[in-house]
Amino acid sequence: MNDIRTLAIIKPDAFGGGKTGKIIDHLESAGFGVLAARVVHLSRAGAETFYDVHRGKPFFTSLVDFMTSGPVLAMVLEREGAVTRLREVIGATDPAEADPGTVRALYAESKERNAIHASDSPDNARVEVAFFFAGVDLA
Ligand code: CMP
Repeated sequence: MNDIRTLAIIKPDAFGGGKTGKIIDHLESAGFGVLAARVVHLSRAGAETFYDVHRGKPFFTSLVDFMTSGPVLAMVLEREGAVTRLREVIGATDPAEADPGTVRALYAESKERNAIHASDSPDNARVEVAFFFAGVDLA
């Protein structure tokens, strides 16, 4: 996939905490268009598959607990340089280290409950978009 589409997930802390509108406003202001969106309550198996790269890490079980604790909003976002730009806009994993004005600095609670996920490469964006939007014609 060219770097024009990426996957974002508004996580259970932010989705359940009523921050979705503010986060989407932030993303649209940064030039992203929402190409597709879907509210999903992940199963344990689904969360474990999505975060398979982190399996075995000390935070894995807690991360799966968190990501299955409530619904999330998965979105395909579009703009030039989508993957790189979205990671800049959301900020560092730990909100304490995120630049001021980034989504995580504004809306995240902690390194785990960090409001939003974004794909880290165009290849992973393709895999992650397929995970949530398999069979959807994204045109
Ligand atoms: P995300 O961008 O979704 O990718 C993996 C997630 O694991 C990350 O955001 C955090 O929510 C979580 N995570 C990464 N590192 C840690 C850590 N050291 N402790 C707790 N959670 C973490």
